[in-house]
This record gives sequence, C-alpha cells and structure tokens, in this order.
Amino acid sequence: MKIQLSDGRSIPIEMHKVRIVQSTQLPPIRRRLAAIQEAGFNTFLLRTRDVFLDMLTDSGTNAMSDNQLAAMMRADDAYAGSESFYRLTDAVKDIFGFDYVIPAHQGRAAEHLLAKAFVKPGDVVLMNYHFTTSKAHIELAGGKVLEIFTDDALITKSDIPFKGNLDLEKFEAAINTYGAEKIAYVRMEATTNLIGGQPFSLENLRQVKELAAKHKIPLVFDGSLISENAYFIQNREKAFGGRSIKEILKELMQYVDIFYMSGRKSAAVRGGMIATNNKDFYNQILPWLPVYEGFATYGGMSTKEIEAMAVGLREMTEQEVASSGADFIEYFVNQLEEKGVPAVTPAGGLACHVDARRFLPHIAQPQYPAGALAAAIYLVSGIRSMERGTISMDRDAQGNDVMSDLELARLAVPRRVYTMSQLDYAADRIAWLHNHRDLVGGLRFVEEPPVLRFFFGRLQPVDGWAENLAQAFINDFGESC
Ligand code: F0G
Repeated sequence: MKIQLSDGRSIPIEMHKVRIVQSTQLPPIRRRLAAIQEAGFNTFLLRTRDVFLDMLTDSGTNAMSDNQLAAMMRADDAYAGSESFYRLTDAVKDIFGFDYVIPAHQGRAAEHLLAKAFVKPGDVVLMNYHFTTSKAHIELAGGKVLEIFTDDALITKSDIPFKGNLDLEKFEAAINTYGAEKIAYVRMEATTNLIGGQPFSLENLRQVKELAAKHKIPLVFDGSLISENAYFIQNREKAFGGRSIKEILKELMQYVDIFYMSGRKSAAVRGGMIATNNKDFYNQILPWLPVYEGFATYGGMSTKEIEAMAVGLREMTEQEVASSGADFIEYFVNQLEEKGVPAVTPAGGLACHVDARRFLPHIAQPQYPAGALAAAIYLVSGIRSMERGTISMDRDAQGNDVMSDLELARLAVPRRVYTMSQLDYAADRIAWLHNHRDLVGGLRFVEEPPVLRFFFGRLQPVDGWAENLAQAFINDFGESC
C-alpha cells in the first residue's frame, strides 16, 4: 500500500507488524572479494553467511504470515486422502474456480508434468516469454518454444503498462506457419519474469483465449506471480480500476484451460500445483503425478506446506498483500532512476531489474555484462542479485552462445522481508557502482554445465577487474563495510 506524506511524497508502507526477525551481517569488502572469487563470480554459489541482503530471488523467501505458520501445525500427514489437500482444493476453488487440483513440489515440477502430458517431439509452444525451467522442460520433451511478445517488450526504458502482452498478429502467423495441431499450447506467464516482471492486460488474455479457442489450442497460464499481475491490472487497466484483486483473479481465470504456479512466490510457501476444470486434461496429467512427484493428495509437497499454501493463496488476494512487493519495487526503481541508474521501467513485479547493457555499455554481450554487473553489485554492497541475461541462456546445438534479448541484473524484493532503509542502501551502493562503472570488466566461463548453466557455472573476470573495483571502494569507504 502507498501512503501520502504531508510533504506530498508517496511512500510504500508496511501493512503488517514484524514480530519475528532473522539477523543478517554485512561482510567487509575484502571478505566479499574472496567470497565472490570462491563462488566463481556466480552469485548462486555464494553462501548466505557472506550475503547481507539476499535479493537473488523471491522464490521461497517471502515472509510468511502468522496464519500460515499456524495452519502448518494442523497438517494431516496422510499418504493418501489428506485433509490438508482438501483444504488446498477448497482454496483453489474459492479463489480461481477450478475443480481439479494436482499438487507438485514446485513450479518446474508442474512444467515437467505439463510437458510430459502435452508436448510431443516436433511440437511448438507459444508464449509471451519463456522462463528458464519452462523452456528446458518443453525442449527435453522434444518441443520448441516460440516467443511472440510485442515489440514493446524489450524496450527497457518505457512507460508502456503491459509489456508482457502476447502479440496477436504473431499468434495468427504462428498458426499459419505451424498449423494449430502442432501447437501444444499457448502459455501466458503472469508478470513475465525474464523481461523484468512485466504484466499482461486482461484484455490481452481475453483476445489470446479467443484466438486459441477458435483453433482449439489450450491456454496454459503460469500464475507464479499472479497476484502481482492482478494488482497491475487494477492499477493500469482502466476497465478494471475499481475492481478488487479477488474479482480480477476470477476474471482472469475464465479464459484459462490449465493453470499452474510455483507456490513459492505469490503464495509465499514452497510448493506448486496445476489446476483445471477440464477433466480430460486432468486425466492426462494425473497418472504421471505418482511417477515423478507423489500421490495425488500431496504431490511431493510436505502437508505443512500444503496447509500454508491454502492460506497463502487466500492471503495473496488481499489488497495489502498483493501490493506489498510491487510498491516497494516501484520505490526502489524510482530511487535508482533519480540517481541516473538504468533500471527497467515501468517497475514490474518480483524485482527491480538493472539494465546491464545501459549500465556497462563497454562490455560486449559475449563477455556477459549482466553476470559481471551481478558480481560487481555483490562486491560493492554484499547484496546478492541474479544474472538474467546470456549466462541464463544455454548454448545452441552447435555449441554457440545464444545472446539473450536482455541483459539484466535482477534484484528481487521478497515480500515483507526488507525495509525502506535497506532499499535506500541498495540504491546508494548501486549508484556508487554506476559512477565507477568503467572499472567493471567482462567475465568468461571456466566451468560450464550443459543445461541451465547459470546455476552451477563458474566464471572469471576477463582482466582481473575485481581487485581494482575493491580498491576503489576501500578508497571511498574504508575496509570495514
Ligand atoms: N514460472 C515462473 C514464472 C517462475 O518465475 C518460476 C521460478 C517457475 C515457473 C518455476 O518455479 O522455482 O517453483 O520450480 N522462478 C524462480 C525465480 C526460480 O527465481 O524467479 P519453481
């Protein structure tokens, strides 16, 4: 929620009290230099004891509510027929209107099951933008991903409200090129993660469904960040201005054939699920559930998490919860913009994204500017961000790097975890780095896994720039922070 101060400023304000806290520490600059070297300049490989603010992701790291924790205590740990599952299905029915629910241990498990059930070799899956794991599962099933985003999607400095929209003309063209029977499904990702947490409009979803239905193509909705997308619809789409988050969610779901989500984001737990009203689709997926995840009433999740997810789903429909991440992200983005740091605009869901191509124009894409930026941000601040650029793309069949559309350092803002002063600190250090950007150089791989290489790959600075950057930091701030 935002609140107006008497001096005219509008600030995000916490509509909750913090009763349990976890301490963190800021390792001094020399320790940070050693830590990022030990981690192969890959922020995934840092230990949290070396991290001050963990902005790697909002996945599984959001603050849980008292009611979620309380619900965990009444979990029904039955292998089959658990009452916890039925409390989850009641929540799914109330919020989304779906009758059939397939729990899975997290979002990518849902993607695996969907790819297994619906993608055949040679099939195409159309989408507003891919997510790393969704693409990997489709490709492992022998399918191909075709992204049909609008021309606005990749403009990082913009005021276009719905950069996550799917381009309907490209959708028609894809149907003509591949034939509807080769299109396994069209996938709409709410607040498209890899292009900066950018939402799509309800009107766009309606039109996508209209065209998909005409050609009998199922519409799959990735709702990992659904409450954020609903909040942006409420704020940016005129026709839905006065509507509640609950109403918008119901409106969205009427166009959806298969819904799935990582429960780790909007629902603030560790889990995932698929839901649908189509019995045939349900029957196609269900047999695979015990093979890969677990029985139909727990699907690889702990029953405690299932209970917390049922509560988390209901809570994400509250205005104060749906807005809690987005309003702080907007504040963060505004701080950076005021200091001249190129962040993705408009501010999106899940994270503040810094555009590494505009931040580090002297680093060529094959030297991974977003990876270099993420490593440099850690070095100067102790803040862990995530590379979302070419390192996050795997090589093609010939072994060539596939250049990413965007080079972003993503600073996730887990909901209800960090405070405004911590965001001010982050903006200050990133602005300092921007003023010293010439000191940052590129990276090269020294160890490179064959799939989703960004998780475990190790890199090195191209010309030993990290020591020079650390020295410049020490000159300005000393060695203790
Ligand atoms: N879909 C989207 C849009 C996601 O953002 C994620 C995960 C997944 C699917 C996969 O879900 O992690 O529960 O298996 N995003 C995390 C992130 C990992 O950091 O953005 P998962």
